[in-house]
Amino acid sequence: MASRLLLKFLLQVGVLLFILESANSQGLQVGFYKKTCPSVEAVVRKTTAKFIQKAPSLAAPLLRIHFHDCFVRGCDGSVLINSTATNQAEKSAIPNLTLRGFQVIDAVKAEVEKACPGIVSCADILALVARDVVNLSMGPTWQVPTGRRDGRISLASEALANLPPPFFNITELKASFQQKGLSVKDLVVLSGAHTIGIGHCTSFDNRIYNFTGKGDVDPSMDPNYVTRLRALCPEGNVTDFVQMDPGSSKIFDTHYYKVVAKRRGLFQSDAALLDDNETKIYIGLQINSNNPSFFSDFGVSMVKMGNISVLTGNAGEIRKNCAVIN
Ligand code: HEM
Repeated sequence: MASRLLLKFLLQVGVLLFILESANSQGLQVGFYKKTCPSVEAVVRKTTAKFIQKAPSLAAPLLRIHFHDCFVRGCDGSVLINSTATNQAEKSAIPNLTLRGFQVIDAVKAEVEKACPGIVSCADILALVARDVVNLSMGPTWQVPTGRRDGRISLASEALANLPPPFFNITELKASFQQKGLSVKDLVVLSGAHTIGIGHCTSFDNRIYNFTGKGDVDPSMDPNYVTRLRALCPEGNVTDFVQMDPGSSKIFDTHYYKVVAKRRGLFQSDAALLDDNETKIYIGLQINSNNPSFFSDFGVSMVKMGNISVLTGNAGEIRKNCAVIN
């Protein structure tokens, strides 16, 4: 009798371990929603396109949201959660105050919920929207593995600790990416996202007014460009912004690398890509090749970034409202 009970117990433990194991080892897969929500990718694309056609400048911040999601607690939609009376969420952290486009994510989620209620995570929606906005800005497309679940924790302190600031040097940038399982190549490729979008004067004004506390400028920046930026960003200005890739800031192309090579990268983190052999060589290749690899590289690196510490299986939840934990 005792041995039968023991056998039953062991079997139950075995089944439990198997369930837990398969929940954890379940990776992301392309077409995860093929049976449960076959229209999801079409719905995401259509809704996103409606917004981008009206306001193309929203493409850049929507791409950035996915990056800011993935680098903090993994790609679990935690960047979308609103702060409450008792919790300062990631959204309230300084680097996230310049994120925009949350209304697009909410609209996409609403359309997806109409098609298949309670099935698709906000984290997956972010990954799909990021892919679509790049493509809608004349950039490449790629297949996005899905199956992420939404997290239930979002802390401003973690955003501050994990997002690389614009003043990082190459050593710090490499370490930041390595911590997330991303390579030096991923760093130079993903930095190419700065081919679209804007930067506020506050993100780089130290470089043009007071680099070392002596009223000096960053010697790594083209002095003519310093003059031009000073005209666009009067000292102390906290509201204005400039295009990161002037003249082509709504088009996803290789032009960013030309800007960086000319010592006109907007942030120290852009300029820093000239301080490492591997990243510098990559920049040269993108500028000088007739058939640059940037477009296909970008899809590969985005899929890698989209895999950072994802929740799958039964972990986390499928949030009903992307801004609020269920
Ligand atoms: C390598 C480290 C990185 C640093 C230090 C960095 C820093 C920044 C900063 C400071 C801004 C400007 C924010 C503002 O002033 O409004 C910005 C904008 C942007 N970043 Fe990055 N970034 C990095 C990597 C990435 C990555 C990996 C992506 C996406 C794959 C990305 C996508 C963007 C986009 C699209 C914008 C423009 C946003 C807009 O137009 O509102 N960045 N980044």
